[in-house]
Amino acid sequence: MAFLRRGSRPSSGTPFRGTNLVGNLEVSRGVVTVGLVLGLAGTIAALVIPVQLFGEARRNDQLSSQVTAMNGQTTPVGFVDDGEGVQIKDSGPLTAVDRDFVRRVMLAGLWEVPAGTKAKSAGTTDAVKTAGEHMVAGHQALNLSVQTTAQILGIDKMPKEANPDQKNWLAQIMSAPPEKFDRTFVQLARSAHGMIFDVLAFTRTGTKNSRIRALADQADEIVRDHMKVLENTGLWNS
Ligand SMILES: [Fe+2]
Repeated sequence: MAFLRRGSRPSSGTPFRGTNLVGNLEVSRGVVTVGLVLGLAGTIAALVIPVQLFGEARRNDQLSSQVTAMNGQTTPVGFVDDGEGVQIKDSGPLTAVDRDFVRRVMLAGLWEVPAGTKAKSAGTTDAVKTAGEHMVAGHQALNLSVQTTAQILGIDKMPKEANPDQKNWLAQIMSAPPEKFDRTFVQLARSAHGMIFDVLAFTRTGTKNSRIRALADQADEIVRDHMKVLENTGLWNS
């Protein structure tokens, strides 16, 4: 009966047409339900997908900027521009960042050799004495490489003495009383080596000069060794 009542509303009023109407109503409900589901899914997709895409795009932009900075030789912290621009050498273009790196490696040797020498004699443990030995040996070898590199590449204005910060560190180490010597030496030396890591990574990644890359490779090995022997003292976190 319900079937007939439904069918009676249209002017035709026949059971056959009533069947179509019910079918149409059911189909309509299905369409509405499917539409709602699709609409809801579309809304969720619209909210989620752009966030993921924009997040990915932003990350890619950051990576792209970093690569551009590397290739464009954007300056590392503490960089000093000598104003001599890019010079063309047999081993590749030589930039102000490359030359600054060579001068900085030289500077490291100018304070680490005397500091390491002091640690060899004043250190109160074998580990501190060993750290001093590694610092002296490493920078004596590195100094030779730096001087050779500077000579071949025609890099002038090489530092002849430690900079003010390094002189201050040396003064603290040289004047430290015996009971404070080990800790003073290890912590100052470790901090200084931490600073050079950024410069090394930047130079090695950005340089297009094979001699600079070779020097950065050697320096990287030595800096890591020095960090390791300093940490072997056990005083790095005291
Ligand atoms: Fe060192």
